[in-house]
Amino acid sequence: MSYLRNTWYAVAHSHEVTETPMRRVILDEAIVFYRVGSGAPAALFDRCPHRFAPLSKGKLIGDELQCIYHGLQFDRWGACVLNPHGNKAIPQAARVRSYPLEERYGYVWLWAGEAERADPTLIPKIDFLDDPKFTSIQGYLAVDANYQLVVDNLLDLSHVEYLHPMFTRKEGVDSHKTEFFSEGDAVFANRLKPNSSVTALARMSWADAPEKGDGRANMRWTPPSVLTFDLGVTGVGAPIEEGLCTPAVHLLTPETSLTTHYFWSQARNMKLDDRDLTERLRIALNRVFVEEDKPIVEAQQQEMGNETDIMALHPVLLNPDIPATRARRILARLIEEESAAAARTTSLAS
Ligand code: FES
Ligand SMILES: [Fe+2]
Repeated sequence: MSYLRNTWYAVAHSHEVTETPMRRVILDEAIVFYRVGSGAPAALFDRCPHRFAPLSKGKLIGDELQCIYHGLQFDRWGACVLNPHGNKAIPQAARVRSYPLEERYGYVWLWAGEAERADPTLIPKIDFLDDPKFTSIQGYLAVDANYQLVVDNLLDLSHVEYLHPMFTRKEGVDSHKTEFFSEGDAVFANRLKPNSSVTALARMSWADAPEKGDGRANMRWTPPSVLTFDLGVTGVGAPIEEGLCTPAVHLLTPETSLTTHYFWSQARNMKLDDRDLTERLRIALNRVFVEEDKPIVEAQQQEMGNETDIMALHPVLLNPDIPATRARRILARLIEEESAAAARTTSLAS
């Protein structure tokens, strides 16, 4: 399957990458992640070029990753630096691909394309994760479905009233004002709920919330699969800063064409030090994603078999599908442009 390559993907929570090598498949490629003595994370293609043993089964000797099978050692840039055999000469082909990594917001980000184009300023901005006015919780789901089905799920929140009883407002689906628009390659799906009842979930963080408030659930997609979510409620007519803000981010990284790494973070601007609340929110949100969203998205994929593009199966489209359809088109165009540029470079070089 084709993916957008020259972009950053969230691939791990920072705490997952340690001096013990960890194998994780990203965009159909097995990669070994580990951390060297300086604290820098490293990522190499997880296959020793000798007899193809996974390097993740090996161990670190100093900063070098030693293959478990015959002991070749590789530095963090993928060069073989030690061959314990024969005359100890290092064959020229004894190197593995290394991947540029950055760490930000508690995530490790991997650049999946041409290493020389890796630009840390292109990492998505998730300011609330760095802002002391917020506290946040994190979660992860392994989803057995193509990542774009998860994007569809998040860009079409009309499912909330049906799938998520916890978020449901008494007023029902008709009380929402929705607006869809694009800015450059970003797609927005906004849902405003003026003068509507405050949900049970919001009340967990905002104890003296008014009976009614102006709610908002504004989703923003940027390629390839980053969704930032401006979620909150404020007193009717009151400024946003006075209310509850629970911004979130959902980072979807293809594992394979049919499986997805789903990282999420959700913050709140109230009761920052209430650890018990943090734990209750983590459990509540995780339950919603694991017991409600994940099963339906996986069931969709099962219905689709090995097809990765739902549009190829000619689904019926409804009004709330507009943003997801637009996002799919933008991503398809970007992938096509990237492939065309790569083909041009190859033909110039040959
Ligand atoms: S397979 Fe890695 S050293 Fe032989
Ligand atoms: Fe959902």
